[in-house]
Amino acid sequence: MKIYFDNAATTALDERVLEAMLPYMRGHYGNPSSVHSPGREVRTAIEKARKKVAELLHASPSEIFFTSGGTEADNTAIFCGIESHGINHVITSPLEHHAVLHPIEELEKRGKVRLSLVEVSEQGQIDMDHLQTLLENNPNSFVSIMHANNEIGNINDIDAIGQLCKEHKAFFHSDTVQTVGHYTHILSETFVNATAGAGHKFHGPKGTGFLYLKKDRKIHPYILGGAQERNMRGGTENVYGIIGLAKALEIAYEEMSTHRKYIESLKVHFIQMLKENIPDVAFNGLSADLDASLYTVLNVSLPPSEDNRGMVLFNLDLQGIAASGGSACSSGAAVGSHVLRAINHNPERDSVRFSFSRFNTLEEIDYTVEKLKELYVGVH
Ligand SMILES: Cc1ncc(COP(=O)(O)O)c(C=O)c1O
Repeated sequence: MKIYFDNAATTALDERVLEAMLPYMRGHYGNPSSVHSPGREVRTAIEKARKKVAELLHASPSEIFFTSGGTEADNTAIFCGIESHGINHVITSPLEHHAVLHPIEELEKRGKVRLSLVEVSEQGQIDMDHLQTLLENNPNSFVSIMHANNEIGNINDIDAIGQLCKEHKAFFHSDTVQTVGHYTHILSETFVNATAGAGHKFHGPKGTGFLYLKKDRKIHPYILGGAQERNMRGGTENVYGIIGLAKALEIAYEEMSTHRKYIESLKVHFIQMLKENIPDVAFNGLSADLDASLYTVLNVSLPPSEDNRGMVLFNLDLQGIAASGGSACSSGAAVGSHVLRAINHNPERDSVRFSFSRFNTLEEIDYTVEKLKELYVGVH
């Protein structure tokens, strides 16, 4: 059996997305910046894709900039948002993805900004009182707090955070990579200056993403070159990637409630089966709380076990089960998770992030629990 439970790292490409992309890999190869008709034809397709993405997210097409993925969108918002607005203080959380933490730490290292980390609870909840105090003491800050955590699944109240940022004139960037395509966004009504999306997290192509940048606070470009993306990102566009991202988002919205219900039922079943079969199993962060976490993520804390210590992902892989220990970049490596460390996870216990998609089944969950039982309870 081959089971893929690493959908927070990346998802399978939807066949319908591939179909939409193929004509732009074959016949429609004109450069969208060219003035001739093969170029103009492709330009029209890109602008149609932008319009679609904007419409779905309740944004204006002029607020969507296509990028190479979530990391580039986050880096652009951080480096250019901070520089363009002369900001010298950043507030973020220790639970952010490295696509956010590393550029911020780099700016701190270069002496460009002071950095404050907002406190989080042992379950990874943002301490809103502490955030308020930080903002009161440092108005005009740059705040970066993600919509949902890719490792433990916690969903943050970005409306409430946005409101606080608005009151204190902060620039608010939220990494929405794990929620775009899985939850609806009404960006026109959220006080957020910038968000990020990545096509491969919702059955679109890899190496595609977008930066949403609200009209009222413009920033300088990150990549200089040609006039593409309205002078915000030089370089010939990833045409078929853009077409694929828009198609994947369109499908995600059309089918969201059906898939959500189905994936949620898988998660509920998984939690129940683990509780019934693995004594002393626990769940990291809020991932077992259906209302407070991503329906696509379950972060399981396994009981201490000499036999499996540090080996659980490997042992699962031997059984054909692909899961992860943390974010995509740390999976397989023994570096551990900065997210789990920040929420006081017991290092005696191994943790596995299982993340789901509409392509998973109940049988796969039963098989996985059976294998975990063999590993942890010794029933063969
Ligand atoms: C929360 C979050 N932010 C950013 C990224 C980076 O996205 P990409 O791999 O498309 O650059 C990821 C991907 O793992 C993510 O989960």
